[in-house]
This record gives sequence, structure tokens and C-alpha cells, in this order.
Amino acid sequence: MSDATAESAIVGDWGGADPFAPSFRDDPYPALNQLRESDPVNLTPVGTWRISRYADVADVFRNAPTSMTLPDGSSPNMDDQDNRGSFREFMLNKDGPDHIRLRRLVLGAFTPRALKNIENQIELIVGEALDKALKEGGMEVIEDLALRVPSRMICRIMGLPEEDIDLFTEWTAMRTNAFFARFLPDEVVVGARKAGEDMADYFEAMIKKRRAQPTDDLLSNLIQSEEDGDRLGDVELAVQAIGLLTAGFETTIGLIGNGTRAFIENPEQSRLLKEQPELAANAVEECLRFDTPVLFNWRVLTDEYKVGETVLPTNSVLWMMLGSANHDPLQFDNPDVFDIQRKNVGHISFGGGAHTCLGNQLARMEARHAFRSFCSRMPQAKIRYDEFEWSESFFRVMGKMPIEFS
Ligand code: HEM
Repeated sequence: MSDATAESAIVGDWGGADPFAPSFRDDPYPALNQLRESDPVNLTPVGTWRISRYADVADVFRNAPTSMTLPDGSSPNMDDQDNRGSFREFMLNKDGPDHIRLRRLVLGAFTPRALKNIENQIELIVGEALDKALKEGGMEVIEDLALRVPSRMICRIMGLPEEDIDLFTEWTAMRTNAFFARFLPDEVVVGARKAGEDMADYFEAMIKKRRAQPTDDLLSNLIQSEEDGDRLGDVELAVQAIGLLTAGFETTIGLIGNGTRAFIENPEQSRLLKEQPELAANAVEECLRFDTPVLFNWRVLTDEYKVGETVLPTNSVLWMMLGSANHDPLQFDNPDVFDIQRKNVGHISFGGGAHTCLGNQLARMEARHAFRSFCSRMPQAKIRYDEFEWSESFFRVMGKMPIEFS
């Protein structure tokens, strides 16, 4: 396919890496590596283009003329019958001034200065989780650590009751499927729609409450900016809250869960972090690269653009294969090796350009504490693979990973 132009291509193929096949997420990297080698600019059977090389993905984010939607404003991936709570109104699906305005309204809650104020709370939550694990001789890594830290922190930032975390856990996992619902089985789409409805009910009621009785948190601040005349309507407001909760929950569960697994499966790296805790920040970057929580995202070309050797026409839908780019040997030495001392670990797990993940500093800070404490305090552990489960999420997130200490 590589010398072709998009016009001459009629039917594509998955190149051995069908991201919707149930077995794909067990270990997507061998298939993604093969796809990147054999067809780095791949036309899929559903008519989208998958961009797999690091340099191409980075170039598109930086330089290509793109939008998040098709010319008629519809989403190339989302379910157009999805109604209340639809991510079509979330900042991630907006371009230009509409996007900037929504992003600016929440940015303040995620600056390094704002985050510094909550760092000790992260340390406390991690500490409690590990005390309990030591007492019990093991832990359910997802429920007790990977989920506990980001769920509590996003609740505190947004001003949501922690008693509702179980509800959020169920909703956000289902809701991630809404991002690519067009390509998912009916029962998954129905579940994602239902989660959107339930979340819209929840947030509309919560917004009413906060309007009557403002508190010092992100949700109340958003309501306040609306009342200061920034025209953020109730639906828009509820959707930003749903999007933030989903983004802040699921992705970081993936980072802490997948990273902890990488440490357990590579005990020499865990020992290294214990001996040199100053490696924690680099270790977080390596975890983000090595087992990427969001395997792909999307862009739509608003003009023709050459990617690698292929000229892609206007309105092409591009899927940016972040997980593949992070394992590209042209960018990283021995990319399939987990090495927390890796130099130039500049992964692309937070996307790029105007939409670069807004919560990246929060996620990094949570993971830094989780990994540093886990490796320094926990004895050698064994994963109980017979009880291992993936979650309902579209992202690369586990549902269960019980471990016991040896
Ligand atoms: C390891 C954790 C995380 C990963 C891997 C991740 C990944 C991503 C990715 C791939 C994007 C799309 C970027 C693009 O299209 O170029 C994104 C956007 C976004 N993320 Fe994250 N994210 C993480 C944590 C968080 C957290 C903790 C929050 C906080 C609430 C958050 C909020 C957002 C928001 C609001 C956007 C949309 C930004 C925009 O459209 O301007 N993320 N994230």
C-alpha cells in the first residue's frame, strides 16, 4: 500500500492487527509491530488510515491540517445516535476557538501549582493502600491501588462524593467505548449509551446542587465561569464533567495497573527503582511508553497530506497508533524491553498538538508515587494470572490483577 495514493485504494485490510478482535488486547504489540513493518500507512477495511511509525504520528500531530470531525461536524468514530452525555460536545471533539474556550475553562485545575497542593493526599492514599497489602500478604492491584488513587483524586478535584466511586467505575469503563462506538458490537454500544444517560442524569442533578450551594472545586468553578458570562450551557457543562471524569479515571488506572504489572514481571527493574528512587519520573515515562493506556486516537485531514510515502486525500480519517509508535525501533532502542533507565524516553502516549492530554501532569504525579512506593515497600510478588481480567473499557485497562507476595 505504501506507494499508493488513497484514491487508488479501494478496500483495505487489518494487516493482522484488528484492534476490535477480542484477543487483540491480550498482547497487541507483536501484531502492531508487524503492521508497522509491513504497512506503516495502512488503509483499514472500515476506510480509515492507520499511522504506525513514531515519526509519522508525531508529524501529523505537529504539522498536518486536521480537525476532530468530518466536514458536516459529525464524528468519524462516535455513535451518532448517542444522545445525552455525548462526547460530541466534549472539548476533545472540538476545533479552533470552540476547543480553546472549553480547554481554558478547566486548565487551571491541572497546572503544576494546583497539583502541588494535592500531592500529599496522593502519598497518603498510596501509603494506606500499601499498608493494607502488607498486612494481607497481597492485593488486588486494580481495585486497591490503580483505581483507588486516580478515582479519589479526580473526585476531590471535581468535587464529587467519594461514596459514588463504584458507580463512576462502572460508568466510565463503559463510557470509553463511546469514543469508537461505530466499530463496536451492538451490546457494547447499548451499554455505552446507557452509561452516558446515567452520567447525564447524575451530573445535571449535581450541577443543580452546586449552583444552589457552590463549593471550592472544579465543578463549581465551571458553573461560576458560566455565570460570569462564558456561555457554558448546562448540557455542555455536564458533558465536560463526564468527559473529564472518564478521562481522569480510566486512563490512569491503565497507567498504574499496566506499569505495576511491568514491574512485577521485570523484578530487576523494581529492585532498581527501590535502590534509586530518583528514577521514578523516568520510570513513569517508560511505563507510559512500554504499555500504552490509550492505544490509538484520531484526526481528520482538512486538506491532502503526505504521510510517509502516501498522499492521503482531504477528509481522510487517520487513526494515530500511539501504542505502535511507542514501540518503533526507528525511534527507540530495543523498544520491547522495559528499561526505566532508558534515555530519550519521549513517548507519544498523551497524543499531541492542540489536544495534548490536559491531565498528563496529574497522571504522572499519581503514577510516580504509586510506583516508587510499590517498588520500595512491597516484597517480590506473583501475579495470579488465573484470576486476571481485562475491564469493560475501550482503553488498555485491566479489571482485575490479584497478586500475592512470595
Ligand atoms: C495515563 C493517563 C492518561 C493518558 C494515557 C491520557 C491520554 C490522553 C490522550 C491520548 C488524549 C488525546 C490527545 C490527542 O487527541 O492528541 C487525551 C486527552 C485528554 N485528556 Fe488525557 N490521558 C491521561 C490522563 C488524564 C487525566 C488524569 C485527565 C484529567 C482529568 C485527562 C484529561 C484529558 C482531557 C480533558 C483531554 C482532552 C484535551 C483536549 O481536547 O484539549 N487525561 N488524554
